[in-house]
Amino acid sequence: MEVILKSVSDTEDLGQVIGATAPTKALIILSGDLGAGKTTLTKAIAKGLGVKEHIKSPTYTIVREYDRMNHMDVYRVGGGDLFEIGLDEYLEQDKVNIIEWGDLIDERDLPEDFLRIHITGSGDLERTVEISGGEEWTKLQSQLGKLGLMMR
Ligand SMILES: Nc1ncnc2c1ncn2[C@@H]1O[C@H](COP(=O)(O)OP(=O)(O)OP(=O)(O)O)[C@@H](O)[C@H]1O
Ligand SMILES: [Mg+2]
Repeated sequence: MEVILKSVSDTEDLGQVIGATAPTKALIILSGDLGAGKTTLTKAIAKGLGVKEHIKSPTYTIVREYDRMNHMDVYRVGGGDLFEIGLDEYLEQDKVNIIEWGDLIDERDLPEDFLRIHITGSGDLERTVEISGGEEWTKLQSQLGKLGLMMR
């Protein structure tokens, strides 16, 4: 499904619904160009999940852990050394795992069911967001319908 985000506030609405409907142990793979809004969306997802801690971009640390969310950025790791960052162990935790640049990871290294979100656009332009997920995410689909964001 495709959603159009005209402003940061639309991105915040989308993220909060994702966070509020995410199954426990959900995996969310975020992709899109530099400055597309992956970190902005992650902060909103955290809000929807009820994470109270301050979210900082994991660009340099690769992984940042919060009480109910792990936030990763594999831009510098690419598809390589995921064992080194302990990806498997994070995926086993009862937390939502969000991976910026997660499209660089070979799908064979990921569990079967995850939410894939690709953001197109940067700067002041509106964003087009392509969202796809398995069975686990049907609740999100129905909630998004109620959100009033433009969809096609
Ligand atoms: N609709 C929108 N959604 C998200 N961000 C937007 C939007 N419109 C403008 N922006 C701006 O674009 C920037 C997005 O930055 P952000 O750090 O979230 O991107 P990113 O995809 O995480 O980048 P990187 O690849 O460097 O990690 C922010 O400065 C934000 O204010
Ligand atoms: Mg980022």
